[in-house]
Amino acid sequence: MKPRVIVTGTAGLIGQYFVKTAARWASGWEVHGLTRADLDLTDFSSVERMWERLQPNAVIHCAALSRTKDCERDPQQARRINVEATAYLAGCSKEIPFVFLSSGEVFDGQVGWYRETDHANPINVYGQTKLEAEHRVLQNPRHTVVRIVLTAGISLNGDRSFVEDMRQAATSGRAMTLYGDEFRCPLPAGVIPRAVWELVNREATGLYHLGGRDRLSRWEIGQALLACYPELQGHLFEGSSTSHTGAPRPRDLSLNCDKLQALLSFPIPGFREWLRDRMQQEGDLWDYESTLA
Ligand SMILES: NC(=O)c1ccc[n+]([C@@H]2O[C@H](COP(=O)([O-])OP(=O)(O)OC[C@H]3O[C@@H](n4cnc5c(N)ncnc54)[C@H](OP(=O)(O)O)[C@@H]3O)[C@@H](O)[C@H]2O)c1
Repeated sequence: MKPRVIVTGTAGLIGQYFVKTAARWASGWEVHGLTRADLDLTDFSSVERMWERLQPNAVIHCAALSRTKDCERDPQQARRINVEATAYLAGCSKEIPFVFLSSGEVFDGQVGWYRETDHANPINVYGQTKLEAEHRVLQNPRHTVVRIVLTAGISLNGDRSFVEDMRQAATSGRAMTLYGDEFRCPLPAGVIPRAVWELVNREATGLYHLGGRDRLSRWEIGQALLACYPELQGHLFEGSSTSHTGAPRPRDLSLNCDKLQALLSFPIPGFREWLRDRMQQEGDLWDYESTLA
């Protein structure tokens, strides 16, 4: 019998890529995905029963309140799912590998190219809840935190990734202001499971950064996507983060990923290089596996 891994949040953007790509990257595991419909992770007695029933050998925790705006609007709910449920799941998984997907939003974005040893200083509720959860998870030396970044891909309902948001806005005729002075290092969703499975299989614990190799402004990201999605044409306008209103957004969340890269069997791609290569091929732009031999 194969060891069993539970993946949470599998109706979400990234969780579903763990399930979709399991045959390729996790063939040694029986993957058991959980959606909110299967189990509300804030209902701790049901969680405990599920863990007793499934007896997992590892857990990859992707479920979260993941939108910054939703977290600002309802900090209590953000804390309940992002911190308390994460800590509870980690507690149910004391003796086994537990991987928690965190975010570069734990940084204030003043500097950029952050390393794992750099001081975290979140400036919004989402980042605060992620950092608090990290501390709870990393109390257990068997456990792992992977901070990820702006993720591109296709979700089950077409309404989760920033690429989907941009296409939807363009289709409904809305203009988008993309900041030329706000930097991210975007990554296609399919790369994340491959990297995380490699960490799990190596039993690597502790804190890791996983972002794309390119540091791009929001405006540059929009320009790179124009070639793939002509419907964006005429809807993108360059702006400055100095005019931003609403939930605070860190200015530069580029991540230094050297620590993780040294462990991986493959190079983490850059976003522009990814798009350029994928544009020359047929099929789903975000299908990572088809880029490989
Ligand atoms: N996407 C990014 O750009 C990005 C960047 C940095 C970090 N991250 C982190 O990576 C992880 C995965 O992100 P994602 O983009 O896949 O997020 P997502 O698309 O929002 O998916 C999160 C999933 O968690 C589920 N969930 C929320 N509350 C739950 C609860 N109480 N019980 C059970 N399930 C619950 C959601 O259910 P519903 O479908 O019912 O809403 C959703 O399917 C998250 O920890 C996120 O913070 C993501």
